[in-house]
Amino acid sequence: MSKVRIGVIGCGGRARSHMDALRRHEDAEIVAVADVLEPAARAAGERLGVPFYTDHRELLRRDDLDAAVLSVPVFAHGQVDLDVIGRGLPFLVEKPVARQMATARQIAAALRGAGLWAAVGYQLRYEPGVRQAKAFLQGRTVSVVEGHYWCATSHVGAWHNDWERSGGQLVEQATHTVDLMRHLVGDITEVYSRQASRIVKGITSPDSYTVSVRFADGALGALTTSWAHDAGDWSHANILHVVLDGCLLRVDGRGAHVLPEGKAALPEVPVVGIYDAFVDGVRSGKPSQVLGTYDDAVATLAVSLAANESARTGRPVVVADAVGA
Ligand SMILES: NC(=O)c1ccc[n+]([C@@H]2O[C@H](COP(=O)([O-])OP(=O)(O)OC[C@H]3O[C@@H](n4cnc5c(N)ncnc54)[C@H](O)[C@@H]3O)[C@@H](O)[C@H]2O)c1
Repeated sequence: MSKVRIGVIGCGGRARSHMDALRRHEDAEIVAVADVLEPAARAAGERLGVPFYTDHRELLRRDDLDAAVLSVPVFAHGQVDLDVIGRGLPFLVEKPVARQMATARQIAAALRGAGLWAAVGYQLRYEPGVRQAKAFLQGRTVSVVEGHYWCATSHVGAWHNDWERSGGQLVEQATHTVDLMRHLVGDITEVYSRQASRIVKGITSPDSYTVSVRFADGALGALTTSWAHDAGDWSHANILHVVLDGCLLRVDGRGAHVLPEGKAALPEVPVVGIYDAFVDGVRSGKPSQVLGTYDDAVATLAVSLAANESARTGRPVVVADAVGA
């Protein structure tokens, strides 16, 4: 294989980052794009100088594809993912992998049945600081984990904060923080969530969330998320504090840090970015650098949906019970 030839499905805001990264990648080439909205498909096609389609099935009929990128809204997952699998392509899919567990499970089963794999857009897993944190936490006992994702929602009127279409902040956005918690500390088995609409008007999702969590090994955690913060300040998104025996691990946008400073050193780790991992997986046929399976992303989705169920019922819930084991 010379360059990995990729078709991009969904040409919205997030897809632009994928397109920019992949067009710069020396081993990748975007050969076509698709979006149900003609202006979005056209703009992306013209920008990249490649054919564009308004139906992903037309794109998939091309015979020059090695892989796909799916960057569609949360509610749009299902048939499009199944069609990519039916075409026999590995793909990079944006998080969260679906709005409903049944859809996510159907796609996971189709992937297994086809012997294919997918990388999921939990790009924080690939960050140097997160890799260091992961290595540092190996073999250490966690007392408590505190996570938060405080920002504004800049999409009033769009699908992103429409409860039916996105699942709200825990499903659509703070899924990154949930995934970091699972990636670094382990599976989450129980959740208890409270959710409220306090400040942001004109959206159908709550703007304020708390989630108390219990990890499989007994560690405890708390996650708070909000859409009521300042629109220009992203410095409080995806922050984690992990309390250990005699020290604290903080993970933020600048990396990982052990506190008090000098108490322990973080290990050196090899770093491979998400696009390198994906392209290498397609070229080699083995996604050995891809961090997290599709099933892993389904498990992250399950935690957010279980938290929503907990808030709806006002009760703590066992994740497996809430989403159907
Ligand atoms: N990893 C990250 O950091 C990150 C950041 C932002 C968004 N996202 C995720 O990326 C995904 C897309 O979000 P966005 O902000 O780009 O949304 P968006 O609404 O800007 O773009 C989505 C595009 O998909 C198109 N689309 C919908 N159904 C389609 C279909 N069946 N076939 C082809 N195109 C279709 C829409 O017309 C739209 O142009 C979401 O899952 C979101 O959660 C991830």
